[in-house]
Amino acid sequence: MTVPSHTMPCGVFFMFFFLSTVISTNHACNKADHNSLWSSFDDVPSSALNWSSSDCRHWEGITCDKDGRVTHLLLPSKRLQGSISRSLGNLTHLSHLNLSHNQLSGPLEAGLILSLSFLEILDLSYNLLSGEVPLFPPSSNIRIVDLSSNQFNGTIPSSFLQHAGNLSSLNVSKNHISGQMPSSICLHSSLVRVFDFSYNNFSGSIPLGLGTCSKLEVFRAGFNSLSGTLPSDIYKAQALEEISLPSNKLFGPISDRIANLTSLTILEIYFNQLTGVLPHHIGKLSKLKLMHLHFNNLQGSLLPSLMNCTNLVELNQGFNHLEGDITMLNFSKLGQLIKLDLGRNYFSGFMPVSLYSCKSLKAIQLGGNEIEGQIQPEIVSLKSLSFLSLGWNRPMSQGPYIYFDGLQKSQATLPSK
Ligand SMILES: *[C@@H]1O[C@H](CO)[C@@H](O)[C@H](O)[C@H]1NC(C)=O
Ligand SMILES: *[C@@H]1O[C@H](CO)[C@@H](O)[C@H](O)[C@H]1NC(C)=O
Ligand SMILES: *[C@@H]1O[C@H](CO)[C@@H](O)[C@H](O)[C@H]1NC(C)=O
Ligand SMILES: *[C@@H]1O[C@H](CO)[C@@H](O)[C@H](O)[C@H]1NC(C)=O
Ligand SMILES: *[C@@H]1O[C@H](CO)[C@@H](O)[C@H](O)[C@H]1NC(C)=O
Ligand SMILES: *[C@@H]1O[C@H](CO)[C@@H](O)[C@H](O)[C@H]1NC(C)=O
Ligand SMILES: *[C@@H]1O[C@H](CO)[C@@H](O)[C@H](O)[C@H]1NC(C)=O
Ligand SMILES: *[C@@H]1O[C@H](CO)[C@@H](O)[C@H](O)[C@H]1NC(C)=O
Ligand SMILES: *[C@@H]1O[C@H](CO)[C@@H](O)[C@H](O)[C@H]1NC(C)=O
Ligand SMILES: *[C@@H]1O[C@H](CO)[C@@H](O)[C@H](O)[C@H]1NC(C)=O
Repeated sequence: MTVPSHTMPCGVFFMFFFLSTVISTNHACNKADHNSLWSSFDDVPSSALNWSSSDCRHWEGITCDKDGRVTHLLLPSKRLQGSISRSLGNLTHLSHLNLSHNQLSGPLEAGLILSLSFLEILDLSYNLLSGEVPLFPPSSNIRIVDLSSNQFNGTIPSSFLQHAGNLSSLNVSKNHISGQMPSSICLHSSLVRVFDFSYNNFSGSIPLGLGTCSKLEVFRAGFNSLSGTLPSDIYKAQALEEISLPSNKLFGPISDRIANLTSLTILEIYFNQLTGVLPHHIGKLSKLKLMHLHFNNLQGSLLPSLMNCTNLVELNQGFNHLEGDITMLNFSKLGQLIKLDLGRNYFSGFMPVSLYSCKSLKAIQLGGNEIEGQIQPEIVSLKSLSFLSLGWNRPMSQGPYIYFDGLQKSQATLPSK
């Protein structure tokens, strides 16, 4: 059987016409969504955005699903100003909302986020948004929440975490949030990898619950008003790579159980009121790069075990009550060490000869101890060293600091007594 030759192109043409009509009808921006988008921002889309097309699926930063409902609104760094209106909440199929790095201001109306029940990603970071932190029970699909670097105040209701069963990252850093940190922190989502509560005004103690955070890698809550001891179950959060709690009012010891957190690379709890001795098995933390425990009330000696933390880059334990003869400490395995600060403690003995094998060292602060003796000529082998402070020690009190900056290394000898 043959088809008349002239009908073929005609059939194909109609087929094409039919299909393209269907496709474009399916994809055309939903009228209500179009209107909601248009009224979501005060001063859009004038100069900042190319929203000139009559069909919003062609608009910059917008993606629609096959029914023409807006699913993605991605407008980071578009110099958007003014407030976000309630009509954004009418985009009920929105799954990705990224308005970071703009100058959006004013409060978010209560319920706005609540109505976005498909929301997975919410990034409002780096704006000037204010008022109550908009963490009402969110969509159960929510995975990433970044509200950092705004001016939100109020508290985080614990109901927030109860409904966020898929949450993997929460960043509320750099706001004015107060009250307790949310409790039972991972009870409802075992997927959390990142919690950043830093630079707010959280108070009270760090609640229990971190122990159930089996995937938690980053825990930051520094620069708040937190008090109390480190929660006992933090040592069960086996995936932790970073514990960052500087500048709070935390007290009590760091438990020896910290040796179990073998993925830890950053441990910073400086500017607190920690007491007790350094954890005995700290040497098990072989991935540790940064240990910043300065400005606390730690006691005891610098442990030989610490010398097993062979990836240490910065070791700062200045301004504590540490003591003991450091002469025989063997630093030779710390080949990555760049900064060593043991200043303002009660260390005694001589400067450890083994330090000269830490070839990466750029800065050594041993000032304000009870160390004695002279700098050995081997110091010149530390080619990267640009800062050495040994002032305010026993017989070498030659003034507060000796700087190497710009000096020939051979000049770097202490005047003898
Ligand atoms: C949003 O939806 C509400 C009711 O659901 C309606 O009254 C309002 O006009 C809508 N806003 C826009 C901008 O579409
Ligand atoms: C604005 O977007 C339309 C598509 O919607 C495009 O044709 C036009 O070139 C764009 N204009 C500019 C200045 O980018
Ligand atoms: C939002 O957009 C910025 C800029 O493209 C990007 O760096 C950031 O990762 C995005 N946020 C999320 C949560 O994907
Ligand atoms: C939050 O900030 C708004 C102004 O942005 C203010 O009116 C309100 O009183 C503040 N609330 C709290 C609890 O501080
Ligand atoms: C949280 O956001 C701030 C910026 O506001 C950023 O500096 C910080 O790195 C973020 N935290 C994490 C864990 O990514
Ligand atoms: C996680 O999200 C999926 C859809 O992506 C949803 O089916 C599931 O209920 C959510 N889990 C929880 C615990 O909310
Ligand atoms: C932080 O919260 C405490 C109460 O917990 C309050 O006394 C203090 O004024 C707050 N600080 C700031 C900067 O808001
Ligand atoms: C370290 O973890 C193991 C299991 O992962 C556990 O049996 C042990 O008790 C823990 N040790 C400490 C000191 O917490
Ligand atoms: C350092 O580690 C080695 C093996 O890696 C071990 O034999 C030694 O006991 C450890 N030293 C200290 C002081 O913990
Ligand atoms: C320090 O330890 C290294 C092995 O890491 C060893 O070769 C060296 O002899 C030790 N130095 C001292 C002074 O004990």
